[in-house]
Amino acid sequence: MKHIDVKKLFANTAAYVGTDVTVCGWVRTARDSKSVAFIELNDGTCLRNLQLVFDREKFSDAQLGDVMVVGASLMVKGELIASERNGCEVNVRELTVFGSCPGDYPLQKKRHTLEFLRTIPHLRARTRYFESVFAVRDRLSFAIHNYFQSNGYKYVHAPIITASDCEGAGEMFRVTTHPWSTEHKSEEEYNAADFFGKRVGLSVSAQLEGEMAAMGLGKIYTFGPSFRAEHSNTTRHLSEFWHVEPEVAFAEIDDIIEIAEDFIKSIIRDVLENCPEEMDFFDQWVEKGLKDKLNHVLNSDFGRVTYTEAVEILQKSGKEFKYPVEWGCDLQTEHEKYLTDEYFKKPLFVVDYPKEIKSFYMKQNDDGKTVAATDLLVPGIGEIIGCSEREWDMDKLLDAMNARGMALESYREYLDTRKFGSVPHSGFGLGLDRIVMYLTGVQNIRDTLLFPRSVGSI
Ligand code: 4AD
Ligand code: MG
Repeated sequence: MKHIDVKKLFANTAAYVGTDVTVCGWVRTARDSKSVAFIELNDGTCLRNLQLVFDREKFSDAQLGDVMVVGASLMVKGELIASERNGCEVNVRELTVFGSCPGDYPLQKKRHTLEFLRTIPHLRARTRYFESVFAVRDRLSFAIHNYFQSNGYKYVHAPIITASDCEGAGEMFRVTTHPWSTEHKSEEEYNAADFFGKRVGLSVSAQLEGEMAAMGLGKIYTFGPSFRAEHSNTTRHLSEFWHVEPEVAFAEIDDIIEIAEDFIKSIIRDVLENCPEEMDFFDQWVEKGLKDKLNHVLNSDFGRVTYTEAVEILQKSGKEFKYPVEWGCDLQTEHEKYLTDEYFKKPLFVVDYPKEIKSFYMKQNDDGKTVAATDLLVPGIGEIIGCSEREWDMDKLLDAMNARGMALESYREYLDTRKFGSVPHSGFGLGLDRIVMYLTGVQNIRDTLLFPRSVGSI
């Protein structure tokens, strides 16, 4: 149906004032008086509501009854008039009611707690908070594509159903069409009779396929969902998250760190420039000083510290950590938080982790103890990027896989990349949902996407 986006009316009010406009949307608030009634209308195209003015001499109680309620949907036609207070408003002449909205509509109040809104995810997009989150998430996704597209990367699509596990055993959701049955004598027999003839699951990362693509295309990225069956019921873990994974041939660890920093700054800059109203909203209501924080990030270098130095800093901190720190331990959230929030106070690359706590594919450093891997940690959240140079020496890679007891036959194609013209290459994975948290100040990852999936909750 012919109508105009509210966003356009606010963006270029002067062009429309004095003309007839048709707008559609949902009622956010409604006020009635003897002579005139007001509706604040939102159509989802921008955060701002458009005020509709109804002359009560022209619109009877019967006509307005169905729309003077929060949540009702409608279309109106009328003259756009300039308004000092609201920028512009519509003097309504014609009204079409699409759907009224009964009193049990859950979003009656002006403000609701995030906990409450999590119980009605299907209606969350009708709140200012989530409108802002989804606008930023949308712009971020666009900025991510834009960054890679304008820097010569090819967007490739990796399979979601896969037989190989990228990050190590025990975290994959299984995919099967088998009904429950006690008929099979062994697990092999059971798997062999399944849809694909083997045990398969949902991909935890597109990296292995991405590496194969980069070995022909040079620079690629994937951008899609990854699945993790971890039982981590935290504010930063999802069972299904959105994963951005570039892979770059002829790049060593320092090259990919430079790319990662440039990439993160570029997408932050894009969102600050293109979502001004939403970023003001988050700055005012969600995290005071958010915009200053992000602008500071844009104008300073990210920190860099080796894992070994980080362990020393933590040990000398005088802090009582729940998990004691010693060389070889995995850094816990509390450790990451101390490093970013208290010590460095900015995004921080921690490099050269002990090889035992990292994945098989990472390039082994000459010290024999560490790998050329880095996590990008940011204040308030912790890890947002996992990154590494890949082991491109076949023998060393095989050693690492054997040490982990991996079934080499499942990785034959991956190993071919090291057999046929192997080259130094590097890549990283960014969790989209986590960087949405960082850019908005949203504290719980479940509030960064429409329908969050986490252990025990779908
Ligand atoms: O550190 P991760 O596990 O690294 C990989 O998967 C590599 N294969 C990436 C690569 O080099 N191509 O995951 C990468 C990022 C994390 O830093 C985090 O931001 C996000 O993915 N992530 C999650 N986000 C939400 N919920 C989870 N359960 C996540 N697990 C990882
Ligand atoms: Mg990681």
